[in-house]
Amino acid sequence: MYDSGLMAKAKNIYQCRSCNATALTWMGKCSSCGEWDSLELQAQAQSTSTLNAAANFAATVGQFGDAAEAIKILEIDAPKIGRMSTGIQELDRVLGGGLVQGSVVLVGGDPGIGKSTLMMQAAIGAAREGNRVLYATSEESAYQCKLRAERLLEVEEVSENGLDSLFVLADTDLARITTQVMELRPQFLVVDSIQMTYRSDIESAPGSVSQIRRCCLELVYLARQLQMPIMIVGHVTKDGQLAGPRLLEHLVDVVLNFEGDRHYALRGLRSAKNRFGTTLEIGLFEMGQHGLQEVVDAAAFLDPDAPPRAGAVVCPAMHGSRSLLIEVQALVTQGTIGQARRRASGLDGNRFTMLTAVLEQHANLKLADQDIYVSTVGGLKLTEPAVDLALCLAMIGAYNNKVLRKGVCAIGEVGLGGELRTVPQIEQRVAQARRRGYSKILVPITQVEVAGQNAVGVASIADLQDLFENIKYFSTPKTRLSDDKKEERIKYA
Ligand code: TYD
Ligand code: MG
Repeated sequence: MYDSGLMAKAKNIYQCRSCNATALTWMGKCSSCGEWDSLELQAQAQSTSTLNAAANFAATVGQFGDAAEAIKILEIDAPKIGRMSTGIQELDRVLGGGLVQGSVVLVGGDPGIGKSTLMMQAAIGAAREGNRVLYATSEESAYQCKLRAERLLEVEEVSENGLDSLFVLADTDLARITTQVMELRPQFLVVDSIQMTYRSDIESAPGSVSQIRRCCLELVYLARQLQMPIMIVGHVTKDGQLAGPRLLEHLVDVVLNFEGDRHYALRGLRSAKNRFGTTLEIGLFEMGQHGLQEVVDAAAFLDPDAPPRAGAVVCPAMHGSRSLLIEVQALVTQGTIGQARRRASGLDGNRFTMLTAVLEQHANLKLADQDIYVSTVGGLKLTEPAVDLALCLAMIGAYNNKVLRKGVCAIGEVGLGGELRTVPQIEQRVAQARRRGYSKILVPITQVEVAGQNAVGVASIADLQDLFENIKYFSTPKTRLSDDKKEERIKYA
């Protein structure tokens, strides 16, 4: 046998855990995505093992079906896309009408945001619809899962309750999970979480790039083979110690981001990628004592009995295909010239700063020595420019200490010249506000006809000042409360 003696020297390969790029030498910063300290050494055998994922998978699962053959595009029969309801309307809507058979959905989000809760609720929902469901948990024990289910169902002990077909498997080894799936043949599988699941034949630690990618790939094969939808939970960590789900986005069919502020109960479920539906939908939930409650009501964040306050303006904002009425608040207080503070929470900070400049220039507000704080109520994020008009009105109201009369809300984008610009989906927003009893809906003047009944057209921010001076829609609040009014405000249990 001929031995050249020139056997290729084994090379180390370093892979970025955030963008998956490879490099031949270790570098402090990934040259592809710019992430620091993200390159990690890949095991030698690993590139082949990833390639062999399909073969290994076949070995675990057994052989199915025949080898695929290339066919003409014209001859491809359209399969019926079967969808399964998770029993959670908001989740179904974001998915595009339920879980598609054989699809893989990745649910990402910060630790503690409520991913496991959402998954357990979906598992319960699907089981109650009569599906056999397997919840594979690698982070919690089976008993913890049961406790959570009891908490969600508001029961002392899970009894039948339609949950006869819900199974829990506490395991981290993907091969064993697959074996269980092959035995049980569930119609829906939840894997919580991908970071804690591992293949014992891969050397690197659970949570590393190679483990996560390989496990996800095998789950994708499993979903396709068994025509079973899988929902995979993935953590997003700031320091990047665990490979984030970004790595897996191209492997799966749907990527959902579960987001929200941990200090608020509100959670939003957004889809970043969806092969079977739009990515514009947003599901809204509120975390409560008994799990996530769906937020379906457009005025859920408004207190219908709240008296009008200076600096508070309601805006019919769009969330996905729905219009929600959201209160925008502003507080303007005396600050120091040159060091005036500007803080925005739930709103786009850059837009807010721009609007303060527009107000100075076109609405005659002197804000250089004023501290301004603006926020949305309930922790909702509102980044669409259509909120500009409401934000400007809130700031003018707070500055002048004047309140909007009851029944007034505002929608419109504001340009640098102070002019009001057209916003999308005006009819829907106005209709929603009208339905909620708003009788004067301020809209861009160009859209007043389209908006129809109850709409009041505004051409420019300069005209808002006129509204103030005429005190047409504004009235001065009482600064001191009379004694009987105080009683209404402070209540003892
Ligand atoms: P969890 O679903 O475990 O978050 P994740 O899987 O994303 O890490 O739940 C997160 C938080 O939600 C936890 O701190 C407790 C809280 N929670 C409630 O407030 N109500 C509930 O009914 C449940 C189940 C959890
Ligand atoms: Mg969890």
